[in-house]
Amino acid sequence: MNLGNLFPRKSIDLLLTQAQEKETSLKRVLGPLNLTMLGVGGIIGAGIFVLTGQAAAQYAGPGIVLSFIVSAIGCGFAGLCYAEFASMIPIAGSAYTYSYATIGEFLAWIIGWDLILEYLFGAATVSVGWSGYVTSFLKDFGINIPAYLSSSPLAYEIGKGWYATGAIINLPAVIIVALVTALLVVGIKESANFNNMVVIAKIAVIILFIAFGFAYVNSQNWTPFIPPNTGEFGHFGFSGILRGAGVIFFAYIGFDAVSTAAQEAKNPQKDMPIGIMASLVICTILYILVALVLTGIVKYDRLLVPDPIAVGVNAAGEGLFWLRPLIKIGAIAGLSSVILVLLLGQPRIFFSMANDGLLPPAFAKVHPKFRTPHITTMATGAAAAVMGGLFPIGALGEMVSIGTLLAFAIVSASILVLRKTDPNINRPFKTPLVPFVPLMGAGISLLQMLSLPFATWLRLIIWMAIGIAIYFFYGYKHSKIRNNA
Ligand code: ALA
Repeated sequence: MNLGNLFPRKSIDLLLTQAQEKETSLKRVLGPLNLTMLGVGGIIGAGIFVLTGQAAAQYAGPGIVLSFIVSAIGCGFAGLCYAEFASMIPIAGSAYTYSYATIGEFLAWIIGWDLILEYLFGAATVSVGWSGYVTSFLKDFGINIPAYLSSSPLAYEIGKGWYATGAIINLPAVIIVALVTALLVVGIKESANFNNMVVIAKIAVIILFIAFGFAYVNSQNWTPFIPPNTGEFGHFGFSGILRGAGVIFFAYIGFDAVSTAAQEAKNPQKDMPIGIMASLVICTILYILVALVLTGIVKYDRLLVPDPIAVGVNAAGEGLFWLRPLIKIGAIAGLSSVILVLLLGQPRIFFSMANDGLLPPAFAKVHPKFRTPHITTMATGAAAAVMGGLFPIGALGEMVSIGTLLAFAIVSASILVLRKTDPNINRPFKTPLVPFVPLMGAGISLLQMLSLPFATWLRLIIWMAIGIAIYFFYGYKHSKIRNNA
């Protein structure tokens, strides 16, 4: 095997030609507002509605507010790098495609494999959050789904390892993934309309929580704002803020899904950077305010639950009872849209990889009537349903975070590479302050990765080893670019 052969690059010209070819099948209809809605649709979900409580209770206390700021800064730097790529290479595949153009096939495969953690594992994680809210919502109406049918049969705790909980399956998680998958198979237009509706609903609910919850804040709950470290790295204190940032980083994932819609943007050069950055800014402001109000209403140690915002509303007492069903409806709708955006992105990445010969051709098949990549969509849905049905949200969420952080680090570093290797390409949007911004994007992402638990790292390494093995058994031999096909 000639290892020098591992890094063939796909030229930007070839990518742009492919984008032109697809001009006939994809419509450029999305403006800056639609793109921002898409970003917000993919961003606001389980991170804020579920993981915030767990991260505050286990790692950062009220200091979770600072974790949100640290994470937003890192995402802002990476977002500016995504914006440059999305305006320069406006075709599907996101970070996988960008790295094929910059650092070559092998690393593009690695990143494509890594993106499965973001999109597929992400959808599974959010389906578990969805299940938590639906179960609690139905309970309010006297409908009890027994725990053995609505929680994960497997659980993981630091020090204790994996163990069986006695539950059989998380059935609501399986059901929502199946429903969303069906919608995605049937049509992209229906899916986009659904997203627009729920984004408005979830933003309205979050603003209501902030506005009305503020009156119930007891400032004693904020003291100490940064609980002292327990002696173990990552458990409160400043290292806890960092670990909290690594965990709730999950809440920001989704702005990069805007970049997968580059081919449907009317004016990608101008509008992609707006969509990416505007959705990030809007969500950052909302997140900081929600975290402040939530940890102000409830003592952080009571937040280790699957539905912390609902617990916050309950703790406020009768004055906020009217908000209870609204919070749950907003969360359920919002989480559905995230599952949708993630399960929409994953098949497109598989689709690009199969078109390049790195995955079997079945993954690039399009349904003759629905014009959707139905086989990959169903395979992705089936895998997400199995994972959502079996695994706990914490372990899944940390895998998603570490995988996405790795993608952000590589995209940021790739900006530096491409500025050197192809300095004269037309860059409609330029990442400002190079090399500072890409270096910070990569550096902060790596730092957040380092703050994640060792078990998560181990799983990442095992995941990557499986991916590398698959590449050498399949992709290396079938790659179209290496075979000049
Ligand atoms: N950011 C998305 C969420 O929090 C993935 O659900």
